[in-house]
Amino acid sequence: MPDKTVALPYQTPKGVHDILPADHEYYTYIKKVIRHRLRQAGFRRITTPIFEFTDVFKQTLGDTSDVVSKEMYTFQDPEGNSLTLRPENTTGVVRSYIQNNMSQLAQPVQLYYIEPFFRFDQPQKGRYRQFWQFGVEVLGEGDPALDAQVIQLAFQILKDLGIADLFTLQLNSIGTLDARKKYVSSLQDYYFGKERHLCENCQSRLSVNPLRLLDCKEEDCVTLVKLAPALSEYLDDESKAFHADLKEFLDELKIKYVENPKLVRGLDYYAKTVFELWDASMNSQNAIGGGGRYDYLVELMGGTPTPAVGFSMGIERIIANMKRAKIRVPHKDEVHVFVAQLGKEAKKKSLPLIMEMRERGLKTVGALGKGSMGAQLKIADNFHATWTVIMGLTEVREGVAIIRNMKLGTQEKVKFEKTVDKLIQLIGEENLDTYHPGELLYG
Ligand code: HAM
Repeated sequence: MPDKTVALPYQTPKGVHDILPADHEYYTYIKKVIRHRLRQAGFRRITTPIFEFTDVFKQTLGDTSDVVSKEMYTFQDPEGNSLTLRPENTTGVVRSYIQNNMSQLAQPVQLYYIEPFFRFDQPQKGRYRQFWQFGVEVLGEGDPALDAQVIQLAFQILKDLGIADLFTLQLNSIGTLDARKKYVSSLQDYYFGKERHLCENCQSRLSVNPLRLLDCKEEDCVTLVKLAPALSEYLDDESKAFHADLKEFLDELKIKYVENPKLVRGLDYYAKTVFELWDASMNSQNAIGGGGRYDYLVELMGGTPTPAVGFSMGIERIIANMKRAKIRVPHKDEVHVFVAQLGKEAKKKSLPLIMEMRERGLKTVGALGKGSMGAQLKIADNFHATWTVIMGLTEVREGVAIIRNMKLGTQEKVKFEKTVDKLIQLIGEENLDTYHPGELLYG
């Protein structure tokens, strides 16, 4: 154990961390739930590169968005290209949709991802510089029934993970581009002459992206927003009808929502539906996930106009909430058998035995070091092995092995060739780990 008072020569940079085996139990389980639910709904997985040309993000997320203005890890490669570690995936997926001609496939194209992302944020609880998201993107169909289905999937996955009740769905419509243009100019009129009361960020946002003023947390900005014109009054008939349909569909799916007229999201590509999942108890913007419709993004990135909708969720935040709700995940990592041996002859004999045990589904560790029997039984305990197979020179000569019940401390001798059968009988066929992916191959 390193001495924590002495600085270690090598540590992770600020805001990033190792995922240790105990947390991987959560990751494995969460990924299983996600894959299952999304497969059921006809989604297929996509992985885009971890870095893209900087313009992929810069031209799409908004120059004044926090993500672009201060959170991107941008660097130049030796060929002089400006590249950026992806801070999110909607833009990468849209780039891929266009580049790979996915508009020629049956629409909508339904994609999902489970990947790491990078934002140069100030690290705090639930906010890291490398974090994992899973997300879905549905491209090629503009029906509000899809917005409802995507939201339902988000809730279904949280429900499967046992934490759906901890969150409320915050819902808003930010309208079509036309409606938003009109609203933005009335917002700029409202703030004319009031600039000096705004925080520095909002002052610079006012000319470029006044919508973001609505969700500023600074006290003076919040006060001013209260009297600002409401976005809902500027929605055109198309946006209003779309939103009304979406709410009807959500009612049909029995999904409760909170109408939040101030919700605009931090990225620029949205239109019409926007939503976030907020922590219900804190009643604050501690979002576990968010998303919405981005009907103009494909065109903005050089494709043909294509409506689209999606969301993503932070996996670290999911895990933190599962732990908060005291939800433990089932895992399959416990060891069934430890093989302890004394002397080289016994070790030689135990090696093929260990391989046979593993092949037949017994999770087995052993043939380690030259320690005394006591020391090896201690290792077996540390692995929480239920059974230990013990072999010394005498057992090798007699052609037997000793099987020890680690809980009760009882043991019995069995013929060497019968050891594996006997262990399987003790552990139960149903508990064996017999998954052999190779068997599923065809071709
Ligand atoms: P976002 O709201 O920026 O949306 O991020 C989605 C989720 O990622 C957040 O709700 C949070 O759980 C997690 N997250 C974001 N930043 C961090 C961080 N620094 N540390 C830990 N977790 C974080 C998007 O990224 C959009 N691409 C969502 C989307 C998909 N919209 C349409 N399709």
